Amino acid sequence: MKYVRMPIEVESPEEFGYDRIKFNLSESSVRDRSLADLGVDLRDLVLFYGTHEGHPGLREIVARPAGGGLSADDVLVTAGAAGALFIIGTTLLEKGDHLVVVRPNYATNIETPRAIEADISFLDLTFEEGFAVDIDRLAKLITPRTKYVSVTQPHNPTGQLMSESDLRRLVAVVESAGCRLLVDETYREMSFGGLLPCAASLSPRAISVSSLSKTYGIPGIRTGWLLTRDRELMTTFLAAKEQIGICGSVVDEEIAFQALRGREAWLTDVGGRIQEALATMRAWMAGEELMEWIEPKGGVVCFPRIRLEAPVDVDEFYRLLSDEHATYVGPGHWFEQSRRHMRIGIGWPTAAELEGGLRAISASLREALR
Ligand SMILES: Cc1ncc(COP(=O)(O)O)c(C=O)c1O
Repeated sequence: MKYVRMPIEVESPEEFGYDRIKFNLSESSVRDRSLADLGVDLRDLVLFYGTHEGHPGLREIVARPAGGGLSADDVLVTAGAAGALFIIGTTLLEKGDHLVVVRPNYATNIETPRAIEADISFLDLTFEEGFAVDIDRLAKLITPRTKYVSVTQPHNPTGQLMSESDLRRLVAVVESAGCRLLVDETYREMSFGGLLPCAASLSPRAISVSSLSKTYGIPGIRTGWLLTRDRELMTTFLAAKEQIGICGSVVDEEIAFQALRGREAWLTDVGGRIQEALATMRAWMAGEELMEWIEPKGGVVCFPRIRLEAPVDVDEFYRLLSDEHATYVGPGHWFEQSRRHMRIGIGWPTAAELEGGLRAISASLREALR
């Protein structure tokens, strides 16, 4: 493995220093919550080694709403979605193995295969095509050597979402090619229309990944999971998890279990807040002639760009934004894209902070005009 730190982690707000940021528009989750917010009391929890697969109640509560006959046995609890992606990458790939990855993407989906020195073919999404995944083009990248195809739905950083028929076509494509499909579903429960089916429910060749970090605002517990109906593969995933850390933290998994028990009410609440934030973002975009965007269809991020014809000094813009306006966004280079793009997270800031941050972007753009 060749580990290299990713810009999105090196420059993350927690590494930069939360105290240096007034308007934090760089997060890809809803606002972080405390134990008191969750109403969790852990005083009687015995700190034993947990079940290696993960808290049985948690696995049950993850599997049931996923549908398609998925059960707790199809769930492996991991150290966040990031831990799941690492286990999947290191299990399915060896140096020189081929995979297909959609780009841009959440950085780990690209960087772990790179660290393994796998041979990656990218399907590059473009602003001009509305960041849509073209299934035919993707299918053409698959070769007899391909181990898996990796997509994120809803997509990070653009917030785009494929149709259910496209997802089903993609499943059929990997089945006929004899490879696998990895769907990073970390934002699934924050889709604006209906939810896509959980990919693992559609085929034993599909693996789903998710966590509590984004929709539930509790990334600090580092609890996520992968889902697959392929039992043999699941045993290998479990072997990987046992070698990394035997089992997960029973503290984290108990908190996760209790947070998920309040799922219905929480999702309704979060859904309402996201729509309010989206309305603010939409109104700002409509009045900001230096920027353009593809409106998101799910999640809490979007990926607008500074219009190509706008004479903005982009490096100066980012300097002003952070140094003079204490405002933080996710610049395009976090996603191997032009820095004219920026990921704006609408779910983490309060309404006032979102408005303040958007005003700061407008001001910095004008101050950086050549
Ligand atoms: C698409 C996606 N997958 C996975 C992760 C990792 O999240 P976590 O490990 O906190 O669950 C992130 C975090 O930004 C993400 O955006």
